[in-house]
Amino acid sequence: MSGFLGQVTLDGPSGTGKSSVARDVAARLGAAYLDTGAMYRAATVAVLDAGVDLTDTDAVTRAVASADIQVGTSAGAELVLVDGVDVAARIRGAEVTRTVSPVSAVPAVRRMLVDRQRALVAEAEAVVVEGRDIGTVVLPDATLKVYLTAAPEARAQRRAGQLGVTDPAKIAEIAADLRRRDEYDSSRADSPLRPAVDAVVVDSTGLDRDAVVERVLDLARTAVGAA
Ligand code: DC
Repeated sequence: MSGFLGQVTLDGPSGTGKSSVARDVAARLGAAYLDTGAMYRAATVAVLDAGVDLTDTDAVTRAVASADIQVGTSAGAELVLVDGVDVAARIRGAEVTRTVSPVSAVPAVRRMLVDRQRALVAEAEAVVVEGRDIGTVVLPDATLKVYLTAAPEARAQRRAGQLGVTDPAKIAEIAADLRRRDEYDSSRADSPLRPAVDAVVVDSTGLDRDAVVERVLDLARTAVGAA
């Protein structure tokens, strides 16, 4: 579909295939792409490097405020810099993944990053934005809001496949970690993970990536037609 103008939000828990779907949809729409999870992960790198106590929310906020965090908006090339250093690989590592939930639960950190997200989105005529609170908080007037879910087992299997893990005990550990992060992200006081009232819920259990991409593109066509 070419000529799409508008904003597509893609929220949901991890392991649903959200990132690959969001990138493909952006590429097919010729739209910009913003991975807000990468921004929270980059902020976590800044916090870890500052060596601050994670329970000291003022120190965490200062560490994020003083870092120069840059995230690209192209679906084809991932760009994540903290103070000029390429951290695209590091943000996917275990240390950042373990620490990102408490950092992203700090309201002052969220306010800073939400401001930057809105500024980046304002530069694009067409954009696909993925995260947890995009439809509910960041872009409440988006053209199309999608909330992507999948059964917990399907999510753990998908994550295991990405990591090359086949041991059932390890897959069970991945499932437990996903549940822990969901619980944390869904129960935090500020901007908890939940579908916007006007979001379309898409369950990717048993669907391959292309099928989900086609479904979202169909929804985008309908949303533009209805606008
Ligand atoms: O999508 P992801 O796994 O890269 O996100 C990393 C973490 O960042 C996730 O545990 C929740 C948080 N996050 C958030 O709180 N709000 C967003 N808009 C995006 C991510």
